[in-house]
Amino acid sequence: MNRITISNPFTLKNNNITFKNRIVKSAMSEALASKNHLPTPKLFRLYEEWAKGGAGLVITGNVMVDHKALGETRNIVLENNENIDLFKKWAEAGRKNDTHLWMQINHPGKQVLKGVVGEAVAPSAIPFEPDLQRFFPKSRALSIEEIRGIIQRFANTAELAKLAGFSGVQIHAAHGYLISQFLSPRHNQREDEWGGSIENRFKFLAEIYHAIRTKVGDNFAVGVKINSSDFMKAGFSEEDSQFVISELDRLGIDLIEISGGTYERAALFGKDAKPSTVKREAYFLEYAEKLKEKADIPLVLTGGFRTPSAMNEALQTGATDFIGLARPMALYPDYANNLLLNNASDLSIKTIKTGFSFIDDKALMELTWYSQQLGRIARGKSTKPNFSPFLSLILTLFKNGKEVFQKRRV
Ligand SMILES: Cc1cc2nc3c(=O)[nH]c(=O)nc-3n(C[C@H](O)[C@H](O)[C@H](O)COP(=O)(O)O)c2cc1C
Repeated sequence: MNRITISNPFTLKNNNITFKNRIVKSAMSEALASKNHLPTPKLFRLYEEWAKGGAGLVITGNVMVDHKALGETRNIVLENNENIDLFKKWAEAGRKNDTHLWMQINHPGKQVLKGVVGEAVAPSAIPFEPDLQRFFPKSRALSIEEIRGIIQRFANTAELAKLAGFSGVQIHAAHGYLISQFLSPRHNQREDEWGGSIENRFKFLAEIYHAIRTKVGDNFAVGVKINSSDFMKAGFSEEDSQFVISELDRLGIDLIEISGGTYERAALFGKDAKPSTVKREAYFLEYAEKLKEKADIPLVLTGGFRTPSAMNEALQTGATDFIGLARPMALYPDYANNLLLNNASDLSIKTIKTGFSFIDDKALMELTWYSQQLGRIARGKSTKPNFSPFLSLILTLFKNGKEVFQKRRV
C-alpha cells in the first residue's frame, strides 16, 4: 500500500501537466445549450460551481463534433469559431480555482434519440436490441469518405476547444456512441479495413487520436473514456479493451477513464452489478486492478464511488490514479471540497426508478433525473436529492414531448 490520498497532486507523464488533487468530475450531459447548441449563462454558472467545488479536473458533458449528429436536443456543438467567445466564457468559468477543464468530444453515431436528427449513422446498419428500438431510429452504414470526415471533425473540435481555453479534451469512446460502435464486433460488421479484427476496429479511434494530436500538439492534454467491456454477447470484450488501452498508452494518450456498458447494458450506472462488485463500491475496480498490474497507465476510475474510505483505498492500492465522480457531483457540487477537508459523509445514492420497467431497465431515468438536478444548480437553486422520479418523468414528457418515451413500431 502507498500513502496516496485524494488530496495528492498528480502530474501527467507525457507533458508535466499537474492536477491539484485526485478528484475528477466525470462527464454529465447538461442539456443546457441554447436552441442553436451554444453555451449559455446557465452553463457558465454550473461550471463555476464545480470549479469552486474543488475537483482537480472537471470534464464537460459530451460536446458534439457535428450539428447534424446530436445525441439529445440540447447538446452543445463546437464545429467552427463563429461563437468562440461563448466557449471562452465557459472555459473561463470552469477554470477558476486552478481547476483543469477538459471538453469531452463525441459523435453519437446511431445512439440518437428519435426525432432529434434526420438520420442516424453507424459503422454498419445493425439495429439495437428490440426494446431499445423504441428510443433509437434505424441507422445506415457510413462510407469511407464520411468516416474520414468525422475523424477530421474530432480534430477540428479539439483544436477549437484549445483555442477557447479548455486545458484538454477527452475523446468519448465509451457507452455505445460512435467510437464505441466501431470498437464493438457486434455493432461493427464492416468488411473493409475499419472492421473485423480488433486492430481494424481500433483504427477509427487511433486515427481520431492522431488527427487530434497533430492539431493540438504535445502540451495539450488528450484523454479518452473507454469501456472495460460492453457486457454484450459478441460485443466489445475485456480483452479488446485491454488491447485498445495498451495501444493508446503506447501512442501517448495522457489519461484513460474507465467506465463500462451502453444503453443496452447500463453497467455504467451499476445495473446488474454482482453483489461482490456492489460491496467493493466501484463497478470497474477489478478491471482497473488488472490494467495496473500490467503497466503504469494513468487511470481515472469512474462509476459507483460513494464513500471516502473506498476512494482512498482504490488510490492506496494503486488500482487508479484518480477517482471519477458523476452523480454525487450532480447533487453535491462541492463534494470534492468536503472530501478534501475530511468532511464528506458516505453517500447513499439510490437508483432512479419510476416503476415503468421499459424505462427503468435502460437507465434513461438516471440521465433525466440527474440532468434536472444540474438544471437546478445552473439556475442558482439548491438540488433536491429526494425529488420524485415519477414527477421527473412527467416534467420530461411535458418538456420534450411524449414521443421520446412512446412505444413505436420501427
Ligand atoms: C445526467 C448524466 C449525464 C451523463 N452524461 C455523460 C456524458 O455526456 N458522457 C459520459 O462519458 N458519461 C456521461 N454520464 C456517465 C457518467 O460520467 C458516469 O460514467 C456514470 O454516471 C457513473 O459514475 P457515478 O456512479 O459517479 O455517477 C452521465 C451520467 C449522468 C447521470
